[in-house]
Amino acid sequence: MEVVILPGNRQIASLAADAVQALLRRKPEAVLGLATGSSPLPIYDELAARHERGLLDFSRVHGFLLDEYVGLEPGHPESYREVIRRDFADRVNIPPDNVHGPDGSAPDIPAACRAYEDAIRESGGVDLQLLGLGTDGHIGFNEPGSSLASRTRIKTLIEQTRRDNARFFGSLTEVPHHVLTQGLGTILESRHAVLVATGAQKAQAVHDLIEGPVAAVCPASVLQLHPHASILIDEAAASSLK
Ligand code: F6R
Repeated sequence: MEVVILPGNRQIASLAADAVQALLRRKPEAVLGLATGSSPLPIYDELAARHERGLLDFSRVHGFLLDEYVGLEPGHPESYREVIRRDFADRVNIPPDNVHGPDGSAPDIPAACRAYEDAIRESGGVDLQLLGLGTDGHIGFNEPGSSLASRTRIKTLIEQTRRDNARFFGSLTEVPHHVLTQGLGTILESRHAVLVATGAQKAQAVHDLIEGPVAAVCPASVLQLHPHASILIDEAAASSLK
């Protein structure tokens, strides 16, 4: 695991975009794992800017969302499929059909989860997985207590995560209680995991992820077992590290 402490979002976004750019140079048909939330937004801005400047071509890229809410109607502005379309896909030349997500409105949720795992496998696997970090140490929506070997499945959000995400909805009551998320075992199979976290509110989770034991109480700590994980953080997020 490499830990890189940078001054702020601009430098973090630039380094993450460098990793994507190097990957696409080597493998134009690469598979990207796409996180939502606030943390990756500067990275999507930087990728869109580099695409605009002709530095990045996403025409052969496939993207797999990390997670999705259960129960939002298709096209709901806060469904992660829509968020990724707005924040990333519509701003670059990735074909819309190349962007995949777990189907949170499927009548048979376990079958939808299995189908998603199959789709990731059939694509050849995720080359570069972008990740944010929950204040409770979650990655994807693998909340504390998640099996370190878990695969894509339905999970219940804890109240803290619902409160953290209420800013994207009109009110807390509108935040769904359930999500589909890639499992920790799924995330571990990505070839390169790039986690970004900024701000003092992430400091404890960053400490547990990097310096704590590998334990389900901090799901992100499973990245200590990842063969190639890059943790990009700012000074505030690094403030609880020894
Ligand atoms: C989003 C996701 C979550 C977020 C995490 C941090 O797809 O999987 O794990 O990355 O909740 O969210 P932000 O970046 O908004 O603090």
